[in-house]
Amino acid sequence: MGNRMKKLIIGNKEAILPIVQGGMGIGISLAKLAAAVANEGGVGVISAAGVGLFEKKVKDINQNNINELKNEIEKAKSLTSGILGVNIMVALSNFDDLVEASIESGIDIIFAGAGLPLNLPKHVNETTDTKLVPIISSARAAVLITKKWLKSYNYLPDAFVLEGPKAGGHLGFKVEQLEDDEYLLENILPKVLEALKPFEVKYNKKIPVIAGGGIYTGKDIRKILSLGAAGVQMGTRFVTTFECDASDAFKQVYIDAKEEDLRIIKSPVGLPGRAVTNKYLEDVESGLKYPFTCPFDCIITCKKEVAPYCISLALMNAKNGKLHQGFAFAGSNAYRAEKIVSVKELMDSLVKEF
Ligand SMILES: Cc1cc2nc3c(=O)[nH]c(=O)nc-3n(C[C@H](O)[C@H](O)[C@H](O)COP(=O)(O)O)c2cc1C
Repeated sequence: MGNRMKKLIIGNKEAILPIVQGGMGIGISLAKLAAAVANEGGVGVISAAGVGLFEKKVKDINQNNINELKNEIEKAKSLTSGILGVNIMVALSNFDDLVEASIESGIDIIFAGAGLPLNLPKHVNETTDTKLVPIISSARAAVLITKKWLKSYNYLPDAFVLEGPKAGGHLGFKVEQLEDDEYLLENILPKVLEALKPFEVKYNKKIPVIAGGGIYTGKDIRKILSLGAAGVQMGTRFVTTFECDASDAFKQVYIDAKEEDLRIIKSPVGLPGRAVTNKYLEDVESGLKYPFTCPFDCIITCKKEVAPYCISLALMNAKNGKLHQGFAFAGSNAYRAEKIVSVKELMDSLVKEF
């Protein structure tokens, strides 16, 4: 591998740097952060999860999500000519509508995770310019999606994001796997590359794999790229930037966090998640919070009858800085943050360390 980072090529989309800013839900990565990353040569990603919770312009929350997602895409496009993506969770009740809206708005790439996006290509045809990238956590999921897309849609995934167990937010692993070295990013990445090889040979096309979860420095990037990844996805590091769309109080949670404050929670949506612990989460754990009336019906897999709190509301409060009424999702390295920097400073330092 040479001294310089190589471009990330996803179909006809080329990012100067192989760094994807991971989509961060409920308002953490919107147009401002995504455009700043794209302007520095990376791929900037707007998260569709809960995008309509902040501007209650219409009563129908699903319609508001669609409108606001379109607004954020338009806003980001007005701020950059770089590569932009959206992150849409498959478990969102109106996944299909959000996909349609993103394609209509001319987004470069759709990243779809938190579930298997088995039917995503039904939204595209030969004239669509948007690239489709599933987010997975195993070779098995990569093969399952690739086979299904080929069989039903004659469509080869444009790339994959492989998210390992050290990531922030919802995780695609069982709790016991999170502690098992077998599932470390550097151990699952070769398996995914190996599993995709036969498809690359048969279709004579590269399927880039972008790996993320716990990547913090330029040295980490070098290590993962040397194992065969075409790029990296990073979330946590982009939170403590001036451009990140979260409140200052949210960013301060990362700066104040100690290593032992990072913990795994059982999210109401049925997946484990990594967050910075606080009084709110301690109260949940000691049974002081009780099932609520569901205000949004936003996630298909949410066990609302038994869930002790609404995850969307808790994350919305956190994004707005009300951390006594919510909590911050964060990757396992969040405690290493010391200060807020600009996206440019961050990207420059990653390139230099690399
Ligand atoms: C605050 C926060 C919110 C996140 N929200 C989402 C999300 O809505 N959808 C998703 O696919 N990934 C989400 N992620 C995961 C990131 O996109 C990214 O893959 C991950 O954070 C990478 O690991 P790192 O944080 O260690 O760099 C989130 C991560 C964080 C830290």
